[in-house]
Amino acid sequence: DMSAEERAFQERIDAGVKIEAKDWMPDAYRKTLIRQISQHAHSEIVGQLPEGNWVTRAPTLKRKSILLAKIQDEAGHGLYLYSAAETLGVSRDELLAALHAGKAKYSSIFNYPTLSWADMGAIGWLVDGSAIINQIPLCRCSYGPYSRAMIRVCKEESFHARQGYDIMLALSRGTPEQKAMAQDALNRWWWPSLMMFGPSDAASVNSAQSAQWRIKLFSNDELRQRMVDQTVPQAEYLGLTIPDPDLKFNAETGHYEFGEIDWDEFHAVLKGNGPCNRERLATRVKAYEDGQWFRDALTAYADKHAPAKAA
Ligand code: ACO
Repeated sequence: DMSAEERAFQERIDAGVKIEAKDWMPDAYRKTLIRQISQHAHSEIVGQLPEGNWVTRAPTLKRKSILLAKIQDEAGHGLYLYSAAETLGVSRDELLAALHAGKAKYSSIFNYPTLSWADMGAIGWLVDGSAIINQIPLCRCSYGPYSRAMIRVCKEESFHARQGYDIMLALSRGTPEQKAMAQDALNRWWWPSLMMFGPSDAASVNSAQSAQWRIKLFSNDELRQRMVDQTVPQAEYLGLTIPDPDLKFNAETGHYEFGEIDWDEFHAVLKGNGPCNRERLATRVKAYEDGQWFRDALTAYADKHAPAKAA
């Protein structure tokens, strides 16, 4: 049974009124948002790592500048999201400590290796493409600070997806070896990209409550279907083959039907046993430790100037 406060809260949500940081909210709503926004923030900064692998080996100066700009955008996305989470009463330090201790989740997708330059294309096209599909509805979610952070994130993600598709297009129209590289990247990134949307609706424990609170406006399976419907024609335009023998267009529904996702693989990655989980976490922890001197210097500088400001 709902309390009067909870009923009033749900009525505001149903009426499409945004919840703001200082508004009353049920504890479980606050917890759910902290969970989702912090996982999202962690995904942004861990997501820098697979691409960081290719900065020094980008094929041209232009490609290198674009890749650098994109990776820097991801740090910005992390910053907006940690800030949105902080409005709910947690600190960035706490959230990062949970990530570095291996206790916090981040997107499964970033635990796969980037083996060739074509992976930069596949990540932009498929991974950032999926991120947009998942995040556009979040611009309208019930929590104000999260919804507003998502607007700029989505604009930048669109650039990321376009640059990825542009790499795939260049490779697909290149030499047979280059086209084979593009196909190989698609083969490796397709299924993990479908897993990004989370477990099937039947297995998604958080969906019903998050939908009621309008944190989730579409279900995991709905968004996954949207990704497949949008991406298959793009693959055809590239002249590449989606690695799914069961994929077929259903003229009656207007949707593509696709094969079974390997949920054992998904769960293994979530448990920390994907191909790169340990490497990603170790790299992140080292980056944080290597940056300690800089945080110390910032604090010392702030302390030194604090009395002057107060006076
Ligand atoms: N990778 C890692 N964990 C996942 C993934 C995934 N791809 N999908 C689901 N999970 C986790 C959930 O976080 C949840 O774990 P928890 O209860 O321990 O927190 C569990 O699996 C069960 O899943 P759901 O009940 O479906 O969870 P939820 O309602 O949170 O839906 C979703 C998952 C769709 C990812 C949602 O949290 C979301 O929309 N998040 C915001 C977007 C986001 O984080 N994107 C990150 C990748 S995009 C990018 O950074 C480029």
